[in-house]
Amino acid sequence: MSKDGKKTLAPAIEAKSLFKTYKEGSIETEVLKGCSITVGSGEFAAIVGASGAGKSTLLHLLGLLDTADSGEISYGRAAAEEPADESVVQASELNERRRARMRNKEFGFVFQAYHLINELTAEENVLLPAMMRPAGQYLAERGGLKERAAAVLGRIGLGERLRHRPLQLSGGERQRVAIARALMNGPRVLFCDEPTGNLDEQNSRVVFDLLLRLREEEGLTLVLVTHERQYADAADAVYRIHGGKAERE
Ligand SMILES: Nc1ncnc2c1ncn2[C@@H]1O[C@H](COP(=O)(O)OP(=O)(O)O)[C@@H](O)[C@H]1O
Ligand SMILES: [Mg+2]
Repeated sequence: MSKDGKKTLAPAIEAKSLFKTYKEGSIETEVLKGCSITVGSGEFAAIVGASGAGKSTLLHLLGLLDTADSGEISYGRAAAEEPADESVVQASELNERRRARMRNKEFGFVFQAYHLINELTAEENVLLPAMMRPAGQYLAERGGLKERAAAVLGRIGLGERLRHRPLQLSGGERQRVAIARALMNGPRVLFCDEPTGNLDEQNSRVVFDLLLRLREEEGLTLVLVTHERQYADAADAVYRIHGGKAERE
């Protein structure tokens, strides 16, 4: 509790001394060596660093897409869905079912390469995260979910592209579909790994401005890996990954 009696929000994400080594046969790549980072609730944190430094590795650990060899990650209430009397959850205490729930409900992911399914329309791609609920429930709620998918696409300027398939869309439009998909389940934290890396300058700017706008409108915590200095400069905090550690700039 703070002085004025209001509850102080725990950081959305607090990672302490993460270690991660990839092992492939006899080859070991030591990537993170005591990497710590804190992202406040509703904050925009940028992660920068040379290619191969471990930025994606760190993002995957924070997003529960992979597990650290050692170290701990805790998530504040804003990023943890249950139970209400638990102010902080530790990644190491989550079983696979709950990790999957957090990835699906609390986190959104946007990657450089979009990762859309080319056989599905924009609207169907955006609906995918909502399909991760029990089949009966999905079928019962399908009408409302389709409306939500269309509304999210409309909000980011793709209301006229619902039936288009990814290959009929520009790179910038594809990435906006991927962002709509990431927002479908109303996440608290958006993890973006070089989301503008495949885009020309103009589309890159459109996508970045969209991320900032959504963060503002949704009160999202935004963790963005970027090579673009101008984007990192807009962040509340910039972490540089170097020598397996994160240094706050
Ligand atoms: N799944 C993996 N298996 C083995 N090595 C990996 C794997 N993923 C990444 N690496 C290696 O770990 C290092 C860090 O990778 P990454 O986190 O992707 O860096 P960045 O995103 O900063 O470019 C690189 O040397 C990369 O080759
Ligand atoms: Mg990377």
